[in-house]
Amino acid sequence: MKKILSVLLLLALVMSMFAGCAAKVEAPVEEDVVIEEPAAETLVVGVSLPTQREERWVRDKVAMEAYAAEMGIELKVQVADADQAQQAQQVENLLTQGIDVLILAPHDASASAELIKKANAEGVKVISYDRLVTGTHLLDYYLSFDNEKVGALQGNYFVENAQPGNIMLFAGAPTDNNASLFFAGAMSVIQPKIDDGTYTVLGGSDFTQVATDNWVPANAQNRASNILTANPDATISGVLAPNDGTAGGIIEAFKAAKVVLPVITGQDSEIAAIKRIKGGDQSMTIFKDTRELAKAAIDMAISIYAGETVATNGLVDNGVFEVPSVLLEPKVVTQGNFQEMLINSGYIQESDLN
Ligand code: GAL
Repeated sequence: MKKILSVLLLLALVMSMFAGCAAKVEAPVEEDVVIEEPAAETLVVGVSLPTQREERWVRDKVAMEAYAAEMGIELKVQVADADQAQQAQQVENLLTQGIDVLILAPHDASASAELIKKANAEGVKVISYDRLVTGTHLLDYYLSFDNEKVGALQGNYFVENAQPGNIMLFAGAPTDNNASLFFAGAMSVIQPKIDDGTYTVLGGSDFTQVATDNWVPANAQNRASNILTANPDATISGVLAPNDGTAGGIIEAFKAAKVVLPVITGQDSEIAAIKRIKGGDQSMTIFKDTRELAKAAIDMAISIYAGETVATNGLVDNGVFEVPSVLLEPKVVTQGNFQEMLINSGYIQESDLN
């Protein structure tokens, strides 16, 4: 029995040795072993734009998407059709989906304070993009152009080029904080010329009288038609139009009334406006390089996410506090410099103007 047992033991020992060998041979070779690295977290940026009706907002979107892709950032873009309820819904969706930073160009400046509150409750920092959100101390940053300067540049062009006489004034949407900044900037130059009798305003000069609901060109066109109809014998020497869209509508009204086109301002350097400038129908526009603004917004989101201090160059009052701001420079575009300013810089193509 003892003998049998010891033979069995030896057998087991030998087998286990072989088993050990076999195990060693069968062990996966080293290159088959994949050691999982924890995935680097991708920054997710939510973008809420108010509209795509004006060409400039299409450009902002395209530029943001291109630069975010280049930087390896996930961008979730939502566009509201100039509708506050829709924008509110979209921002809530973005917050639910989980974003790290929100870039918000508000349709309605004051109603959007509520959206900042919601983002803040989720710990999401907000960059107010191009248009300022007013009435909240929870806003983190404002990134735009110097909008009073936009108006002052329009105003300077106006007083330097419009002959003494009758003028018309237009402003943008009352819900857009930019509209009052543009108007204030322009009137800082034009009002003294009204006060000294150089210009006579037809159709009113208070912001509320001259504002254009939702920036809709047809609204400006209708108001211009009405003023022309009410003043059939008046020659108009200048029209302050806040942007290219409204300028286009006003020019249509003048053409329909078959009266001589006045000096007329604009803003945004839209292709249609550059065609009008080239052809002499519109006098000037403003160039705000949306490629730069879009890039600055993404760079700002990256800095915020990294916990870095964001470099700012100004403070803008939103009615509650001075918001740390980055303001880019607007430039005047005329028949004399659109080639250099817009075509040579690649903002628009020569072929776009055919
Ligand atoms: C403003 C913007 C302008 C113009 C306008 C209409 O807020 O600064 O560039 O596009 O809205 O959308």
